[in-house]
Amino acid sequence: MTQTRTILGLESSCDDTAAAVVRQTGQAPAEILSNVVYGQTDLHSAYGGVVPEIAARAHAEKLDLCVIEALNTANLSLDDIDAIAVTAGPGLIGGVMSGVMCAKGIAAARDLPLIGVNHLAGHALTPRLTDRIAYPYLMLLVSGGHCQYLIARGPEDFTRLGGTIDDAPGEAFDKTARLLGLPQPGGPSVQAEAQNGDPKRIRFPRPLLDRKDCNLSFSGLKTALLRARDQIVAEKGGLTRQDRADLCAGFQAAVVDVLVAKTRRALGLYFEENPNQPTLAVAGGVAANTAIRTGLTDLCAQLNTAFTAPPLALCTDNAAMIAYAGLERFDMGGRDGLDLTARPRWPLDKTSPALLGSGKKGAKA
Ligand code: KG4
Ligand code: ZN
Repeated sequence: MTQTRTILGLESSCDDTAAAVVRQTGQAPAEILSNVVYGQTDLHSAYGGVVPEIAARAHAEKLDLCVIEALNTANLSLDDIDAIAVTAGPGLIGGVMSGVMCAKGIAAARDLPLIGVNHLAGHALTPRLTDRIAYPYLMLLVSGGHCQYLIARGPEDFTRLGGTIDDAPGEAFDKTARLLGLPQPGGPSVQAEAQNGDPKRIRFPRPLLDRKDCNLSFSGLKTALLRARDQIVAEKGGLTRQDRADLCAGFQAAVVDVLVAKTRRALGLYFEENPNQPTLAVAGGVAANTAIRTGLTDLCAQLNTAFTAPPLALCTDNAAMIAYAGLERFDMGGRDGLDLTARPRWPLDKTSPALLGSGKKGAKA
């Protein structure tokens, strides 16, 4: 492949409306020419979580504006685009449908190839876009809707080693923030509070560490936080700033410990198969957490394993990752017809049995 491919990507599977243009010439590093994200945090803030119907309507209103801005920022027009990549799942179905309909409209009007992209593949391939890491690698995907360990061998070739059996970690961060009256999204607020807290004052459980597999559970941490909060309130009549910081620090330390311990296990399984390419990559919104990044960096240093974490803006939902995953599919001849459907569930590893995990976007992996 020597020629230049320029891909327009669209993302609308949760609460971010995003469009981006990614270009690659031959095997030179792919370039992000634009990466526009219209967040919806304000629209959902009164409800304490993402309201699917509000999200879908906001995507439908903003997608075309977002595409125009992405093209303008890249200094390009649709004449310069070689293919349209769009998140076709998994996610909130109304939002995914908005994106798929928009992409189909552009593809049909301009006679451009259409490529449906799995949102999880978008996150999982991001380290290839940002750091050009080679296949295979072990991927830890941690976000508001998912948590899983995947061996990535190719753009559509993933093996899941394990994942959450209930909530995703981002969901637990968001719930923790809600229980403590901190702003959404909860991850950044809890992380900021935790900086001033004592992680040892309130002891949180480390769920599933007694099990030898790579599965995780986060719902018990939420319950533990609720109990600890209520106990402090019962004893002292309310929470001080320091109580809140200590609760956040204790909670975050438990998440870090669990992720580090399970990642050690997942790396063990990965090494059995790939002893010569010790590489761990992390992606998804929760990968923005500095304590988690530090825990994983230290683990990888101990195990002589290369560690990659994309820049924060490319860890959370964005369309550059969709355009890039679309580019890898495009290069393999992957094309979809105008009958492309939006899928609420779409596991990356089709052979692993479904996990029980629900996640804020609903059970899907
Ligand atoms: O990947 P993402 O943007 O959306 C999903 O696909 O879910 O992830 C969003 C999640 C939210 O739950 C948010 O609280 C969490 O990522 N998050 C964080 C941090 N920044 C965002 N969690 C922990 N620490 C952070 N610094
Ligand atoms: Zn995501």
